[in-house]
Amino acid sequence: MNTIKKCKAYKIKDSRGDETLEVEMSSNGHTVWASVPAGKSTGSREAVALPVDEAVWNVNRVISPELIGKKADVFEVDDLLVSLDGTENKSNLGANAILGVSLATLKLEAKIANQPLWKHIQSLGHPVSKSVGFPRLFVNVLNGGAHAKFRLPFQEYMFVLGNGMNVAGPINQLQTLFEQLKKKLEAEGKEIKMGDEGGFSFESDDIEEPFNILSELHDKLAIDVAGGEFFENGEYNVCGQKYSLEKLSNLYELLVKKYPLISIEDPFADNDFEAFAFVTKKMRDYGVISQKEDVLVVGDDLTTTNPQMIAKAVDGKLINAVLIKPNQIGTISETLKAIKMTHEAGLKTIISHRSGETMDSFIADLAMGVGAFGLKAGTMFQSERKEKYDRLLEIEQEVNSEK
Ligand code: PGA
Ligand code: ZN
Repeated sequence: MNTIKKCKAYKIKDSRGDETLEVEMSSNGHTVWASVPAGKSTGSREAVALPVDEAVWNVNRVISPELIGKKADVFEVDDLLVSLDGTENKSNLGANAILGVSLATLKLEAKIANQPLWKHIQSLGHPVSKSVGFPRLFVNVLNGGAHAKFRLPFQEYMFVLGNGMNVAGPINQLQTLFEQLKKKLEAEGKEIKMGDEGGFSFESDDIEEPFNILSELHDKLAIDVAGGEFFENGEYNVCGQKYSLEKLSNLYELLVKKYPLISIEDPFADNDFEAFAFVTKKMRDYGVISQKEDVLVVGDDLTTTNPQMIAKAVDGKLINAVLIKPNQIGTISETLKAIKMTHEAGLKTIISHRSGETMDSFIADLAMGVGAFGLKAGTMFQSERKEKYDRLLEIEQEVNSEK
């Protein structure tokens, strides 16, 4: 009854027009689809995605014959996928092939259990955090770095919206803020282009300019520095200027004191552990003095949704929040384990899209299902990203109809 009858991969296009894969999986009476996003500013420890033709071949010729007739149980299927692959970084079958199958299995399991996906994730009893509620929205409205043609000092500038109580309000607020931002940039005579994540991009070498613009519109901001992208010979090169660990930390401190900046993702390069610990302590000390909540220091390329790296980051007090991207690790089971470890250590999670996205809205269900602090899904002005907000709105209505 609950066994897998069909598992087939296809090539589709992502939001950048690049190829990625979609997996169709069926049992008797149910069919589901899952697709896989792709990053551009990737961490050095991410699981390896193979060229899409190879990944499709691996699903159809290697994985599918092993799965047909097996129970649609994501933990069992993931164990099988990991052992079939046999490598640490999933480079044999490809993390993209493996995640497509893993996610399709989770969706099929939820369909068979006749539950909404987020509820099914919750019922797995695996990683639920204590903060029951809706995720805050971390929305990248100014796109720089690897995601844009124009140069801004950092990769991402985000509005942070909501307080965990609902999502319809913050989603409406986002619409208003985005229109105000567009008008403001136009009024300032800026030449603007759209970046990969559906935000604006313009040329600026002035570190404070984006903060001045955004803080006039909203009182909670976040950045993703993607520090590894401008690390050269032991120093950081921001807008053509050299920054040591201390100098860059001082810059972050200044920004936090001067602007409503509540979260800094990947402030340093993936292997600069000492620098992460230094700035996390700085933010904690500042939190004590200012009696404000600690500014989030978020690991993305640092931790790559990898339970071992998260354990290291927790032990070394390198960060106080973890970005979660399922395709960095390649299976749903390991993603859930990474979330569980993070929550148990008292750190926050932010579930995230990739810069190359698909129409799969899974991350909205994941954020809700595990009680994540935040969801990072881009603007609503690219359908691949709007899909996540539409799914959150549906989930909110499902939650309210149960009350
Ligand atoms: P990526 O960027 O999806 O291109 O890796 C997103 C991020 O760095 O958070
Ligand atoms: Zn990042």
